[in-house]
Amino acid sequence: MKALVLAGGAGTRLRPITHTRAKQLVPVANKPILFYGIESMVAAGITEIGVIVGDTRDEVMAGLGDGSRFGASITYIPQDAPLGLAHCVLIARDFLGDDDFVMYLGDNLLEQDLAAFVGAFEHARQGEQPAAAQILLKRVPDPHRFGIATLDDDGHVVHLVEKPDDPPSDLALVGVYLFTARVHDAVAAIDPSPRGELEITDAIQWLLDHGERVRCELLTGWWIDTGKLTPLLEANRLLLERQEQRLDGSIDESSSIEGRVVVAEGAEIVNSTVRGPVAIGVGARVVDSFVGPFSAIGARCVVERSEIEHSVLMDDSSVIDIPRLEDSLIGSDATVRRSAQKPRALRLMVGDHCQIDVE
Ligand code: G1P
Repeated sequence: MKALVLAGGAGTRLRPITHTRAKQLVPVANKPILFYGIESMVAAGITEIGVIVGDTRDEVMAGLGDGSRFGASITYIPQDAPLGLAHCVLIARDFLGDDDFVMYLGDNLLEQDLAAFVGAFEHARQGEQPAAAQILLKRVPDPHRFGIATLDDDGHVVHLVEKPDDPPSDLALVGVYLFTARVHDAVAAIDPSPRGELEITDAIQWLLDHGERVRCELLTGWWIDTGKLTPLLEANRLLLERQEQRLDGSIDESSSIEGRVVVAEGAEIVNSTVRGPVAIGVGARVVDSFVGPFSAIGARCVVERSEIEHSVLMDDSSVIDIPRLEDSLIGSDATVRRSAQKPRALRLMVGDHCQIDVE
């Protein structure tokens, strides 16, 4: 079994962060989103991984390297234009050969035991009615935004449709799929959708139309398509909740650490309160401050005389003299600071596509 991880795409809904960063490399709980996916592949015993890259290929390649740090071997497959998920399968043909593979969307985060998902597929393959594909479904409140499945009374997949105006069910296709080599016939046969993409949803429907069986599993845990701010903060919250306390950095006597807090190596906590779940990155400094639940402070950040809660600060940023910062996503190398300069005013240098809410 191989893996095909999709790490192209523009990430327009997370601008301005994604003007300078691949959406799959935005950190959640101080680790790039994409790393969670790669780690779960390796944990499921899948180490031959093809990664589809687009405009942000240099950054993704620098982040993942040859895969050895994950115990995997990574092959990069460039996609010249974002022509759809089924197009990714089409261009990965040489890499995939005739092997079964798991396809994983690099901006999805989910609570799913991938090994069990793969195991169920392989077990069913040995049965009387082997499936050509397996999909993962999750009930969602906004089905018009996703690929949607219809099941019959016995729970078998009978129909799939991409982003329907009038959704036939609320069962969305989560960004993890399993395929046999039969899918190559499907992706070669389908036409582009109205949005001009070769849809994987249409390829799976093609399999159904050609008499193939498509298994499905229902995801009961959480699933987050991290492409926007609110879900990103939610993912940050869910992942921070899962961590255990680990204090590798230095904490002075006048500081207090409460609950599930990770203070990475070289980080310093001085005269501050850190109330978990919180992650403080390598070499960060928190001085005379409060860092509250569900915050991830990136590597080498500086937080001074400030209070932060439910926020993500990416690497090398500073928050200084800010009485209260909440629900915020701060990019890397950014500075947010209260100045004493007169006249008293907001002085901003704001990039394109930013959102600033003044109290
Ligand atoms: C893609 C798929 C869709 C699926 C979704 C999951 O949508 O086309 O079927 O439900 O991923 O994240 P896109 O992110 O391209 O809008």
